[in-house]
Amino acid sequence: MVYDLSATKKDAEKIRSDIMGEQDAIIQYQAHIDESKSEEVREVLTHILNDEKEHTAELTKLLRKLDKVQDEKFKKEGL
Ligand SMILES: [Fe+2]
Repeated sequence: MVYDLSATKKDAEKIRSDIMGEQDAIIQYQAHIDESKSEEVREVLTHILNDEKEHTAELTKLLRKLDKVQDEKFKKEGL
């Protein structure tokens, strides 16, 4: 069967997958930070971890533009 998703729906699906990737990265970096005894390592990884959080926010903003129902749900929650 051929799925006839619009380009917007396909983009939204990919963005959702990208958000999951960012969240997985955050979890992994946090675990490495927690395990490291090196202050330098913890500092660099914390900087990278915070970048991943920014990426999550950027992707979520993009998803809200692509999926109006999702956008309404965020608005309903005061976001
Ligand atoms: Fe990222």
